[in-house]
Amino acid sequence: MWGGRFSAGIDALMAELNNSFPFDRTMWAEDITGSMAWARQICAAGVITATERDELLRGLQIVYDEFASGAFPVKTADEDIHSAVERRLGEVVGAVAGKLHTGRSRNDQVATDIRLWTMSAITRADAAVQMVQQALIDQAVAAGDLIIPGYTHVQRAQPILLAHWLLSHFWPLQRDRERLADCAKRTAILPLGSGAIAGTPLKVDRHAIASELGMLGISANSVDAISDRDFIAEYLFTTAMIGVHISRLAEDMVFYSSAEYGFVTLADAYSTGSSLMPQKKNPDSFELARGKSGRLVGSLMTILTVLKGLPSAYNKDLQEDKEPLFDAARTIEILLPVVAGATATAKFNQAALLRGLDEAMLATDVADYLVDRGVPFRTAHKVVGQLVRLSEERGVKISQLALTDFQSIDPTFAADVLGCFSMAASVAARTVPGATGHQAVAAQLAAAQACMA
Ligand code: ARG
Repeated sequence: MWGGRFSAGIDALMAELNNSFPFDRTMWAEDITGSMAWARQICAAGVITATERDELLRGLQIVYDEFASGAFPVKTADEDIHSAVERRLGEVVGAVAGKLHTGRSRNDQVATDIRLWTMSAITRADAAVQMVQQALIDQAVAAGDLIIPGYTHVQRAQPILLAHWLLSHFWPLQRDRERLADCAKRTAILPLGSGAIAGTPLKVDRHAIASELGMLGISANSVDAISDRDFIAEYLFTTAMIGVHISRLAEDMVFYSSAEYGFVTLADAYSTGSSLMPQKKNPDSFELARGKSGRLVGSLMTILTVLKGLPSAYNKDLQEDKEPLFDAARTIEILLPVVAGATATAKFNQAALLRGLDEAMLATDVADYLVDRGVPFRTAHKVVGQLVRLSEERGVKISQLALTDFQSIDPTFAADVLGCFSMAASVAARTVPGATGHQAVAAQLAAAQACMA
């Protein structure tokens, strides 16, 4: 492919280091589709005849079918997917294959291939994220009026609807989908026609190639176009963020499925056993979700580190853009359906949720009771703190203290203070949009459902 000015062959380990075919063969369909578009355009530009174009298209289709059926004859000498396709094309159609690369460089070719590949990876990622979102919505619908202890600092804080907690994991994923959609706009830009650095001398219609390939526009500067990998960094940031979000859901699920909480039981299909302890049922699906997020963050670090300080235009370092990209895509495409399945099949245990609802979580509601009766919140906070201490000293619940005990701390208390000691009333009081009240959560659920395609 480039041997003309060389007199000696390549060192064997150098070849292994240099060859990207073992991993970039995953872009075979994009490479061939891009070449078909190029063949049509260089014909339209008068560089090859219609007969030559048709011969190239026929040969490219044969190579395409070989890849699709697994029959593509691999040669260890193939440096990358681009040279492999061109080599095979030559075997199929003969000398005319040598005309395909006219006016094109592997620099604008690889940049085009990887953009096309990332465009479909974004579509697949969006679908995979939606699977988890749908599982959360379905569980939120099934949760009805069930109440779960809400934690801050992993300490019991306030009662919230189980549906509200479930949906708290929906919205981060919705933001991730927005990031994917935004990244897609910058990914679908055509670099082809940039040549090696200076732009092709052929009079090709770059806009026509872009629309043939389903892209939204063309790059503005050939030097930038051949080395712009921002879209990969953006995709990898988004998949890292998805990993972080999924790992936070996973962390809750791992804790909630322990005997200490007992809030949720995971389906056998998404758990594994211990080789030593017969009683164990481990939440491996969610533990792996937590672990895989580290790998996704690592891929983001890889691309940013490769890009940092790179001289302008194409440098071979850029070949290192592919493995983190492919790995991140594969990781989320396996991980998210598993997380969706594990979430959809999890069973929430009402009795355990009730046991977790400690009356002290209503202390804020007692303070709100005083605030309603004109007591400044800071005073109310202190008063309720004293009530909590008194109840602890006596070893009883706050609601079991006598009214005279309440009134000895603050005379504002009346018999109706007992109305504060209801989890349902506490939840129901929170009616503003975004809060845990039943109406607000119903509206939130409707908004979440409207986000689904
Ligand atoms: N395999 C290369 C890559 O992934 C293709 C581009 C090679 N370009 C070059 N000038 N050697 O980046």
